[in-house]
Amino acid sequence: MGCSCQYKQNTKGVNMPIAASISKRISKPHLEITGNYGLSGEIKVSGAKNSALVLMAASLLTADQIRLSNVPHLTDIEGMSQILLSLGVKINNESSGLCLQANDLHHLELSYELVHGLRASFFCIGPLLARLGKAKIPLPGGCEIGARPVAEHIKGLKALGAYVSVENGVVTASVPGIQKRLKGADVILDCPSVGATETILMAAVLAEGKSSIENAAQEPEVQDLAKLLNSMGANISGAGGPKITIEGVQRLYGCKHTVIPDRIEAGTFLIAGAITRSTLRVRPVIPEHLSSLLQKLRDSGCKIHIDGDAIEINPIEVKAVDITTQPFPGFPTDLQAPFMALMTTSIGTSVITEKIYENRMQHVAELQRMGACIRLQGNTAIIEGVPALSAAPVSGGDLRSTAAMVLASLAATGTSTVEGLHHLDRGYSAMEERLNVAGANIIRY
Ligand code: UD1
Repeated sequence: MGCSCQYKQNTKGVNMPIAASISKRISKPHLEITGNYGLSGEIKVSGAKNSALVLMAASLLTADQIRLSNVPHLTDIEGMSQILLSLGVKINNESSGLCLQANDLHHLELSYELVHGLRASFFCIGPLLARLGKAKIPLPGGCEIGARPVAEHIKGLKALGAYVSVENGVVTASVPGIQKRLKGADVILDCPSVGATETILMAAVLAEGKSSIENAAQEPEVQDLAKLLNSMGANISGAGGPKITIEGVQRLYGCKHTVIPDRIEAGTFLIAGAITRSTLRVRPVIPEHLSSLLQKLRDSGCKIHIDGDAIEINPIEVKAVDITTQPFPGFPTDLQAPFMALMTTSIGTSVITEKIYENRMQHVAELQRMGACIRLQGNTAIIEGVPALSAAPVSGGDLRSTAAMVLASLAATGTSTVEGLHHLDRGYSAMEERLNVAGANIIRY
């Protein structure tokens, strides 16, 4: 297949002085990454952002203390803390994580300003309805990667007996009756939405009677939520499969819970090993949570060694492989951009198709600026591997595309600058520090 990409700077090799001078002109926070430093050793993986966010919201379901450990240090977590504080939740930072107590909720409404910055704020609607019978939350709206509707969440809450109206961009929900208690119901989701499954789960645990969710999301974060809720006294079975059954209980109690390791972060670091052709270990991980990525890395020619809660990658070679993003256990959309960065340096031509979000190909143009050879047809990218990427000033348009820019820069010849750190810091805690410990050369400005 021929390549029609324009090469602006990768034919001459190293261009560090040019990149460095660009870096000095950039006033926005950015990373300056000098590529081609090999990585080695072990990178520590944080707790899962997407679990921690929903587990924090689940604390609204009881007046008792919920102690979460392995909570990652991320701006999204700070945002969720602000939202819960605004509702009246007491939050203490502990050495091992967070202690949350919702024994004096004084507010059942969220402001647009708080919701706008963090989609996960919509998680509060299920617990508030279940516990207090009322909630008012602005629609979170779309984001950089797509429209991100909440129709399935609302459908589920209505099935459980809530009155839900959407006016002027605000969702108002209430539970009728003197007891203000939701009623168990069978919900069949049109698509296995993670957020809808989690919202309905949190609403159904305190409902009267039995509920079920069919075509439920099977993501590990759903399993983690069900585990926390069961530790709080809920009666949930089937989480992690396509049908979840919930036997409603009268009340829930406090508990301690450890957040699962972040499979997306672990996957990103494994890809960092692959793209720099370095042997690298990541720990702790739950290897089954990464099965689809590990399979693709093996297909690509990387040796993968699993040792308990650690995974080591040894990229003997990196051949082109195709991926299509799917709900779990398929290839995660959140690793599509990082994997595409890897494929730009692979041997051969790969085809990457994004099936979850309509606007998740923004990294393509930036990778092209680093000399990647990519043709985009709708939500399918055809990537012809090149021998080397070259450094450039690049910018990520969302969380995972910014991570992809960091990965590409690690493998590029010369010094790149990566903007979009407000995205990156949402999902990766001090990413550059951990990569530097493994041998990378990254400076944050
Ligand atoms: C969660 C993750 C996000 C990940 C995504 C898919 C959190 C905080 N975020 O987002 O990192 O990328 O899962 O793995 O956990 N959909 C509808 N109607 C709905 C709801 C969703 O059509 O009512 C569609 C969406 O447009 C999208 C797909 O379902 O195409 C997946 O969305 P969903 O699983 O809901 O993602 P989130 O829970 O928002």
